[in-house]
Amino acid sequence: RDQEGVGDKMNPFAEQEAWEDYQIGKATLKYGSKNKKQISDDDYQFVFEDQIDFIKTSVVDGCNIDNEEVTKLLEKSKAKSALERLQEERKSLPIYSYRDELLQAIQDYQVVVIVGETGSGKTTQIPQYLHEAGYTKRGKIGCTQPRRVAAMSVAARVSHEMGVKLGHEVGYSIRFEDCTSEKTVLKYMTDGMLLREFLAEPDLESYSVLMVDEAHERTLSTDILFGLVKDVARSRPDLKLLISSATLDAEKFSDFFDSAPIFSFPGRRYPIEINHTKAPEADYLDAAIFTVLHIHVKEEPGDILVFLTGQEEIETVEENLKHRTKGLGTKIAELIICPIYANLPIELQSKIFEPTPEGARKVVLATNIAETSLTIDGIKYVIDPGFCKMKTYNPRTGMESLLVAPISKASANQRKGRAGRTGPGKCFRLYTVCSYNDLEDNTTPEIKRTNLANVVLILKSLGIHDLLKFDFMDSPTPEALMEALELLFSLNALNERGELTMLGRRMAEFPLDPMLSKAIVASDKYKCSDEMISIAAMLSVGNSIFYRPKDKQVHADNARMNFHSGNVGDHIALLNVYNSWKETGYSTQWCYENYVQVRSMKRARDIRDQLEGLLERVGIELTSNANDLESIKKAITSGFFPHSARLQTNGSYRTVKPPQASHVHPSSGLAQVLPRWVLYHELVLTTKAYMRQVTELKREWLVDIAPHWYQLKDAEDSGAKKKSHGEMKRL
Ligand code: CDP
Ligand code: MG
Repeated sequence: RDQEGVGDKMNPFAEQEAWEDYQIGKATLKYGSKNKKQISDDDYQFVFEDQIDFIKTSVVDGCNIDNEEVTKLLEKSKAKSALERLQEERKSLPIYSYRDELLQAIQDYQVVVIVGETGSGKTTQIPQYLHEAGYTKRGKIGCTQPRRVAAMSVAARVSHEMGVKLGHEVGYSIRFEDCTSEKTVLKYMTDGMLLREFLAEPDLESYSVLMVDEAHERTLSTDILFGLVKDVARSRPDLKLLISSATLDAEKFSDFFDSAPIFSFPGRRYPIEINHTKAPEADYLDAAIFTVLHIHVKEEPGDILVFLTGQEEIETVEENLKHRTKGLGTKIAELIICPIYANLPIELQSKIFEPTPEGARKVVLATNIAETSLTIDGIKYVIDPGFCKMKTYNPRTGMESLLVAPISKASANQRKGRAGRTGPGKCFRLYTVCSYNDLEDNTTPEIKRTNLANVVLILKSLGIHDLLKFDFMDSPTPEALMEALELLFSLNALNERGELTMLGRRMAEFPLDPMLSKAIVASDKYKCSDEMISIAAMLSVGNSIFYRPKDKQVHADNARMNFHSGNVGDHIALLNVYNSWKETGYSTQWCYENYVQVRSMKRARDIRDQLEGLLERVGIELTSNANDLESIKKAITSGFFPHSARLQTNGSYRTVKPPQASHVHPSSGLAQVLPRWVLYHELVLTTKAYMRQVTELKREWLVDIAPHWYQLKDAEDSGAKKKSHGEMKRL
């Protein structure tokens, strides 16, 4: 397929296809054309006709199973009250046997690296042990998680175990949601939130222990935290630092933390049979669905865990499975389908932990979150298609893309391990042994493949000027660092010496992408901060504002286009959605009528409230300028001028810096309008490069707002950019 997208205008299917991508959210892999046969009451045999050939490749032996002991404990717990039962369950976890040794090690050493298998009790138990041992008398215990769902659900579990209300002694903090109080002593939070806490409290004075959990995930924030907490630990001998990980290669962590001791304890594992497909599967979603049905019909009782790459895939599989099992009648057992992904509301998340009723089977459709962050009891079968969504960033093009990519061997083994926690299990890999052998050993740390602008702004705010000397476990590429510095410089967040400006300091207060923070700060000048924070809140919710049911696509599209009247652009359309909803008194009914997701809107309202509080903090007055759309667009341009693009004669666009072909996403209100100049919120790569959330701009604005970046001449040839390389090189 032609990379530049030239000629796509000729292809009547191009847009429809892009819509499909948008709906399903699939990036590089297309669905196969296999017959999607429907199951009928008297014919569920097709499951076997079409079945995939698996070959058993090996059996991983279990170890350390003290069945009798555990059974006794669990038996004993049955007769007790819920709270007592939970206490017994706590004692049945592998880590319990090592409680005293672990506490001793923590007392003896300032930094301890902890390694234990997923589900052994690290996240839920260690903070409680420390609390019981009196550490919370000196300060809070903070425990970081790479994922917000994990932070929330683990906090809920621990508050349960301690018999306290969530948000009191045990709480969590994730972006735009703080569920903690004065009382909170055990605080679960995302790694990104702890990073932001450094801004307010650089020595983390209020903490007595920090546990950087799921360290093996190597998210960007976790990697930055490593450097920061190491430094704090040096200046605060009273602070205990725990680095915990589910994988065995802990030496790297130990080396980084000045040869900290590794406390490694055995988990409890049952044998797991590994099956690979004989031949490669063209369509892993289809294959996953077949395999679920195959297990459901053929295999003995036990729950199933399927690893998918994201919400869209999970919803597709959920719908498909519901459809196919509907007609099965009483011939086979009930199949309870439980999805779990980041945006799932918390009340639905708890469903995955509920015990499966007698005679039924549960199938959990999960993202990577179930790999190590969450443990679901009762899983006997794991289906691993071998993919995950991976963010990759190309510093040369400035394009960040979330692509479906093969997992690593380490991930495959973690996934497999989920099958053998409560009994012998089976793992079905929807790829061949050869493909497995071709997988990378480990996933590349995020710091090597992401946009660093946000992190650089935080580090600069913390007074860390020489980024090349920052203590990175794995250094980012110099190009990516340079790119981030240049962007922040062009936004005037840094001066030409690379120092944080007043503007940059204000921008850093917002937990948003620097370009969006800049737009908010700039809205002060255009007297439209009220509108700007609504837009920012709507953008922060992501692409889940509108929904488009398959049978009502025309209605949904019409409803959506109502917000676009006058071709105001997607940003203003989002503002229109928010304001219309507000006018109805935040009506749920209104959302239904307009094909708008009420859950997303509520989240936008929460985010907006918080942004309003932050405005006050940085001294920006809340001013409304609702009728002056040009001012609002100019405020957006002040942040997003690096994301501008110009229409080409062939109907595609060319981004200004760096010049590259892109297209207006079909979901945009401007998809048919194609103005001469546009700015976009993000560039996503699916079948081609698409600009999402697009607004028309005037060329003069660019020259006016960012004269150091665009000169009229540059804007005219829409290619060249002006950079102050000489200055930036020194940073
Ligand atoms: O952190 P690690 O993977 O070592 O284990 P954990 O998250 O502390 O989980 C220990 C046990 O707590 C799991 O095996 C589950 O039985 C239980 N748990 C739960 O029921 N609900 C949660 N949200 C989290 C854990
Ligand atoms: Mg854990």
